[in-house]
Amino acid sequence: MKNIRGSKLTLGYENTVIIDGVSIEFPMNKITILIGANGCGKSTMVRSFARLLKPMEGQVLLNGRNISTMVNKDISKELAILPQNPIVAGGITVKELVEMGRFPYQNWQNKLKAEDKEMVEKALKDTNMLEFKDRRLDSLSGGQKQRVWIAMVLAQGTDIILLDEPTTFLDVTYQIEILDLIYKLNREEGKTIVMVLHDLNLSSRYADHMIALKDKRVYRQGTPDQVVTKDLIKDVFGMDCEIIKDPLYKTPMLVPYSQAIWSSSPASQAI
Ligand SMILES: Nc1ncnc2c1ncn2[C@@H]1O[C@H](COP(=O)(O)OP(=O)(O)OP(=O)(O)O)[C@@H](O)[C@H]1O
Ligand SMILES: [Mg+2]
Repeated sequence: MKNIRGSKLTLGYENTVIIDGVSIEFPMNKITILIGANGCGKSTMVRSFARLLKPMEGQVLLNGRNISTMVNKDISKELAILPQNPIVAGGITVKELVEMGRFPYQNWQNKLKAEDKEMVEKALKDTNMLEFKDRRLDSLSGGQKQRVWIAMVLAQGTDIILLDEPTTFLDVTYQIEILDLIYKLNREEGKTIVMVLHDLNLSSRYADHMIALKDKRVYRQGTPDQVVTKDLIKDVFGMDCEIIKDPLYKTPMLVPYSQAIWSSSPASQAI
């Protein structure tokens, strides 16, 4: 049985603890979305699950094995990550970057097989980047670049995908398109998705499971209805809001109060 979980994880940098003794499991074949204020440790947590950060204490278990004892190729066949700020050497083309997603499957000759080429082509098509395949990455806009990174992660073909703010830089159409693509990968191919997202309304719409982080711990987890509540938004983000139902999907939708506008708005006179 496949699974990924953290056991008594303490994470941080040098002497600073960011996540303190958290045990957590991401439900398989579901979409989990991590939320929390800037700097609360979402990226730190996601990075530790992909072994980009070594835990100070505790362990990450992938299919029951401590990932610190696994070789890179074995991890990369199970789990792909799109970090918040991915970096790559300059001069590379779109296709070359997406092909990197196939590295875990290559032998010492580094030759792409027919199956690798198919996966690269499909990933480029799914992200609408096929027409850009020969362009240099550094010649693309922020949103186009983001879609190439997502294509690379898709080309890796793993059952578990970790995405740290995958919709950053994307215009509203592409935000929905990418989230729809992720949703389809989950519903049609059973991929386990763990993603960090700041848009709480879209999170509520796409998540099966949500995890809110605060004070170095999991503050609350559950369905969007259980997590996105007025009191949690106040406690976790320090913000006053109303929660209404998304008119299309009936999921929780946040309407924030703007303090500056409030005092002079007709709405304030009405109360
Ligand atoms: N390499 C690093 N060295 C030292 N401190 C770091 C490092 N990376 C992150 N931090 C600190 O750890 C804390 C958590 O950072 P992290 O990037 O995990 O937050 P986040 O929840 O992803 O925030 P955001 O919503 O802004 O992306 C922050 O205080 C940050 O400054
Ligand atoms: Mg982050």
